[in-house]
Amino acid sequence: MSMHDDVSQILIDSPSLQARIRQLGAQISADYPPDSRPLLVCILKGAYMFLSDLTKEVTIPHKVDFMATSAYGGGLDSRGVVRLVLDLETNIRGRHVLLVEDIVDHGATINYLLRLLSTRNPASLRVCTLLNKPARREFDVPLDYIGFEIPDHFVIGYGLDIDEMYRNLPYIGVPTSELIERLIGHQGGIDGDDKPG
Ligand code: IMP
Ligand code: MG
Repeated sequence: MSMHDDVSQILIDSPSLQARIRQLGAQISADYPPDSRPLLVCILKGAYMFLSDLTKEVTIPHKVDFMATSAYGGGLDSRGVVRLVLDLETNIRGRHVLLVEDIVDHGATINYLLRLLSTRNPASLRVCTLLNKPARREFDVPLDYIGFEIPDHFVIGYGLDIDEMYRNLPYIGVPTSELIERLIGHQGGIDGDDKPG
C-alpha cells in the first residue's frame, strides 16, 4: 500500500510544478528592484514546499520569514475564523513583503494576513499563491502571482494536507473518496478543531 494509491487523479505533476515555479521566480526577480531585498513570507504549514522551491528560483537577494495561521473547522472546508499561530520575526516597516501561500480558496486567510500586515506599514505587500481556487471565493483579495488556477476540488500534496497527512506527495492530486471517508468522513467534515493551514 503506497500513499499514491490514495490519489484518484494527479492534477499537476511534479515537472509542471517545477516549470511554473521557475517562471514565477523569474517574474518576481524581474519585478522587484535588485536592491529592494524583498521579504518572502511563507504561510505555514501548507506553503513550506512551495517556498523552498520558489526561493531557489528568485535570483535577487531576499530574506525569508514564516507565519502560521489556523482556520477553525477540521474538515475539508477551511472556512472559518482565522487565528494567528506564529508571527513574523522581522520588522516589516518600510520593507517589500511578498506573502507565499499554497492555495487561496475562500480568501479568508489572505484577507486576514493582508489586513494585519498592512497596519505595520510595509513599503509594498503582495501575494504569490501556488494555487488559486476561485469557485468558493468570499473575500475579494488581490493576487499578484498565481501558479495555477484549479477547479473546485479538494487537493493534497506538495505541502497541502488532508488531516495533516499527504503533504509529502511530490504533485498536486485529488484524494480518493475512500481516503476522505477514512480520514474525515467520521467527523462529518467539521469537528471544531483548529486546523493548521
Ligand atoms: P481560505 O482561507 O479559504 O482561502 O483557505 C486557505 C487555506 O485553507 C489554505 O492555506 C490551505 O491551508 C487550506 N485549504 C484550502 N483549500 C484546500 C485544499 O483543497 N486542500 C488542502 N488545504 C486547503
Ligand atoms: Mg495554507
